[in-house]
Amino acid sequence: MFNYKIEVATGSFLGAATLDCVSIVLIGSHGESTKHGLNHWGKDFVPGTVDKYELSSKENLGEILAIRLYKEPYLYFPEDVWFCNYVAVTSPNGQVYQFPYYRWLSGYEPVEIPEGKGAILVGDIHPIIKAQRRRELEMKRNTHQWKTYVNGVPRCIAIDSVNDLPCNDQFSFMKKNSFSYNAFSAGLDVKVKGLANCMSSWKDLNDIKRVLNIQRTPNSDLVSQRWKEDTFFGYQYLNGINPVMIHKCFQIPDNFPVDNDLVAASLGTGKSLHEELKNGNIYLADYSILHGLPTNMVNGEKQYISAPLCLLWKTPQDNIVPIAIQINQIPGEENPIFVPNDPEWDWTLAKIWVRNAEFNVLELVTHLLHTHLFAEVFNIATSRHLPMGHPIYKLIVPHLRYTLEINILARTQLVGPGGNFDQNSSIGNGGIPVLLARAMERMTYSSMCLPDDIQARGVESLPNYFYRDDGMKIWKAMESYVSEIVHYYYTSDEFVFKDPELQAWVAEIFKEGFQSNKSIGIPSSFATRVELIKYLTMVIFTCSAEHAAANSGQFDFFSWMPNAPGSMRQPPPTSKGTTTYQSILDTLPAVNGTAAVVATVSLLSAEPLDRRPLGYYPNEYFTEDIPKKFITEFQGRLKDISRSIKERNRTKNLTYHYLDPEMIENSVSI
Ligand SMILES: *[C@@H]1O[C@H](CO)[C@@H](O)[C@H](O)[C@H]1NC(C)=O
Ligand SMILES: *[C@@H]1O[C@H](CO)[C@@H](O)[C@H](O)[C@H]1NC(C)=O
Ligand SMILES: *[C@@H]1O[C@H](CO)[C@@H](O)[C@H](O)[C@H]1NC(C)=O
Ligand SMILES: *[C@@H]1O[C@H](CO)[C@@H](O)[C@H](O)[C@H]1NC(C)=O
Ligand SMILES: *[C@@H]1O[C@H](CO)[C@@H](O)[C@H](O)[C@H]1NC(C)=O
Ligand SMILES: [Fe+2]
Repeated sequence: MFNYKIEVATGSFLGAATLDCVSIVLIGSHGESTKHGLNHWGKDFVPGTVDKYELSSKENLGEILAIRLYKEPYLYFPEDVWFCNYVAVTSPNGQVYQFPYYRWLSGYEPVEIPEGKGAILVGDIHPIIKAQRRRELEMKRNTHQWKTYVNGVPRCIAIDSVNDLPCNDQFSFMKKNSFSYNAFSAGLDVKVKGLANCMSSWKDLNDIKRVLNIQRTPNSDLVSQRWKEDTFFGYQYLNGINPVMIHKCFQIPDNFPVDNDLVAASLGTGKSLHEELKNGNIYLADYSILHGLPTNMVNGEKQYISAPLCLLWKTPQDNIVPIAIQINQIPGEENPIFVPNDPEWDWTLAKIWVRNAEFNVLELVTHLLHTHLFAEVFNIATSRHLPMGHPIYKLIVPHLRYTLEINILARTQLVGPGGNFDQNSSIGNGGIPVLLARAMERMTYSSMCLPDDIQARGVESLPNYFYRDDGMKIWKAMESYVSEIVHYYYTSDEFVFKDPELQAWVAEIFKEGFQSNKSIGIPSSFATRVELIKYLTMVIFTCSAEHAAANSGQFDFFSWMPNAPGSMRQPPPTSKGTTTYQSILDTLPAVNGTAAVVATVSLLSAEPLDRRPLGYYPNEYFTEDIPKKFITEFQGRLKDISRSIKERNRTKNLTYHYLDPEMIENSVSI
């Protein structure tokens, strides 16, 4: 007889245990064991426990290649899902085989789990493993299908309700209970009782603070104090929540006729506009993407959107300040160019129009499209093309957690018809598809890769650009980690080229995510490890750091509504000298529209329960020592980055901590 020792680890959270009957078959290179029931006297599969069993076989099974788990009904009890962390098998000669799973088993279909060493389908692969991988992917392609969300935009999961999601894609119980757009808005509504029906203008901006008696943060307080300062307005281009908009200006655009006379007072006596352009001190934020978008009705009133151009100057004191704003794209008498010397309310309102454009571009382009929707594409393609035995699956799966569920919620409750954005922001469900499709026409691979993006925007040498500095450190740490993993499993470029699963994965992302548009410059196949490393770094960075940069500061920067109005109730001014404090109040969202947006940004920046910070991988998908060591080194590098950010944080009143690795979530999950 040959005795095999078996260990079975159950997930450590509520609901992980099962009452169903579990049995196992060992699949060896010399044959399969008989089906062996896993039950002791007493309780098996209690959350957080490791159960031990023995299995004897008449034959020596050889190398254990995979296991098959059966979960079957127990008496008349209803089906009971089980979360299996891993199974470990020790053979009679002492060899240990690991079978990492970290997934729910639901239903009564048997599940096959391959041995944990990462393997690619190149060269000598056992037919048993090939067959296991084929079956696994066939099943996942059934449960994970594509549908069109909006024409011209990345496709999405063909599931409309979170209840229909496969259970491995659903939030944990803990997360479900802590997160609900509706419950949260309702909670806030209590605090603003009596205001939900108040569609009048604010009487005084200071009332916002008194009435919206919400939890504040040090940064949100500073924003409410400093929102009118030009230096703070400029600071947000570098270290606010849409830090990807500013680029160096070499030439004043034809549709933005700023001349030296207009900005001379701002630039002081020292330099002319022409000289400052040559010196590289002039920057531009151009919101042309918003030009002519269809607008929404809120409270039965037409809302307005503009597409501003904002010229910025790097001062000798290393501040970034706005020096000219044109609220719409087409120049003319009725579209004046505002400057800081104009009357206070003229200039303030011009900046408010830019901030409204920032709100729209941040939420829908930078946040929704560039992080949420692409993360979903990576997620679906991974389910369909990378089996759990694939090393790249092991590498990226922690960065795909909960993305499908959060995106279904966003589509149904936030940006879809009848959602919060639809009802309460100036873009609404009519303008969102148009904006997303336009953003896709402007998409480039380099905008998804931080080092290339920094170069393309010409912002390498801007001082105090913490998003760039922190982001580059994280990008480099990730790239080293990815490079180590890739070189460990792909010992030559030929392995990359010949890996059929990997090539199918990237090809499908190209087709479903990027509509096979070659001008975007994103790979549709990989020829070398260098290409693969860059691409995987982009995937992990997009799902973690880039999302955190666009997401986590929403409350800090947007809860003070005048700094980021979600909607504008009056058209832009057509001449100078007509704006008053009252006309600004009548342009900004009404009392009840403010409440709705504040509720949303509060929820989206709330610290979610069940977090997994960047580089924290409690599920050990990799079982070999060397990849595990790479993970430990990656964590060490992230710790150093975190330390340096905390150090800097201590010297600032307004802090940039959104890219502190401890604050970044591994995946797009909120
Ligand atoms: C604001 O109040 C008005 C008047 O009661 C109501 O009709 C409208 O639906 C509310 N608007 C929002 C955005 O809640
Ligand atoms: C729009 O805002 C109002 C006012 O706070 C809120 O009651 C309503 O639920 C919001 N609409 C949606 C769909 O969230
Ligand atoms: C493809 O991308 C280019 C540039 O990124 C863009 O100009 C073009 O409109 C896109 N084509 C389609 C069909 O979207
Ligand atoms: C940054 O510093 C502030 C106080 O200066 C502190 O409250 C906050 O927790 C710090 N955040 C991080 C991420 O270090
Ligand atoms: C922070 O705020 C304090 C008090 O308002 C001020 O004295 C100090 O100069 C500020 N520090 C920085 C670095 O801005
Ligand atoms: Fe988000």
